[in-house]
Amino acid sequence: MSGWSHRHLIDLAAFSLEDFATVLELAQRFRVMPVSGSRKLPALQGRQVVSLFFEPSTRTRSSFELAARRLSADVQSFSPSSSSLSKGESLLDTALTYVAMGADVLVVRHRCAGVPAALARDLDRERRSGGRPVAVLNGGDGLHSHPSQGLLDLFTLARHFAPEQPAPAALSGKTIVIVGDVLHSRVARSNLWALTACGAHVVLCAPLTLLPEAFTQFVAAPPPGQAMDPVVQRGTIRIERQLERALPGADAVMTLRLQRERMHQHLLTSLESYHRRFGLSQARLKLCGASVPVLHPGPVNRGVEMSGDLLDDPHRCLVAEQVRNGIPMRMALLYLLAARGDELREA
Ligand code: CP
Repeated sequence: MSGWSHRHLIDLAAFSLEDFATVLELAQRFRVMPVSGSRKLPALQGRQVVSLFFEPSTRTRSSFELAARRLSADVQSFSPSSSSLSKGESLLDTALTYVAMGADVLVVRHRCAGVPAALARDLDRERRSGGRPVAVLNGGDGLHSHPSQGLLDLFTLARHFAPEQPAPAALSGKTIVIVGDVLHSRVARSNLWALTACGAHVVLCAPLTLLPEAFTQFVAAPPPGQAMDPVVQRGTIRIERQLERALPGADAVMTLRLQRERMHQHLLTSLESYHRRFGLSQARLKLCGASVPVLHPGPVNRGVEMSGDLLDDPHRCLVAEQVRNGIPMRMALLYLLAARGDELREA
């Protein structure tokens, strides 16, 4: 695809508007292509995708593996608890073992921020000294980044606003409210880079313990190690502390999981009071238009971030659509990182 220059996918701060357009266009092509059952595309025939997940996952891991199979790749799935990591093998040596077995793409999830980037650097160094080229795809690292989730959320929103042509322009000028545990959310961070790049205005809403004031400046400068922001003009970020002030004027609302596994202090008085103040429900959504959709990256704490009846309402809630869109989006990413040319034809 013209203009695509990324060897790895680590986060979305380095994405230009053209990169977002390329990914959305390709995901849309895969989304509308009739690929199911035994019908596969040959784009990654002979290539090998390995999912190295050091943290639990349902959606990301399964949809990357499905996406790889739909592109005819061989798929290997790694389980840390039954691997030789327990015998003292390092993460790099584990990765190099898969590379020696022919891996072309490593999809990596780790609880520590920076692990996929460090692995990509190490593998690039190996390559320079005669090793094979390998792409690292970040499947979520600590609080840092979850780029494939940010992109599938962007795709879901773009398809909602412009079903026939889900391009970045579909988000321009839109107000997207993100509610909940922003502090611990790599999904929120990836969404902030993606949404503001496309010209959306983001309203963040949470208590101070889950949303420090500094988040208004989150996209003001590129992250350390990145020389410049490839996006000339980004949308804005604003903070509201009450849903009653955040929801009016919203074009879409995304709520985030309370990441209790990452909370090492008592940041909430109780789940009941959190739900009362920040939980989404049909009644609460009367504060915004009747057609305003609700998103959640999953997994959902039913009855905490949103009520069960809202989660089950297909007219209002796009959670299942986000999961569906995860497959073509991850096909697009695997294609861009691992296909060698004009292999985008049906088998
Ligand atoms: N949204 C997300 O990353 O879900 P999983 O943890 O199930 O992969």
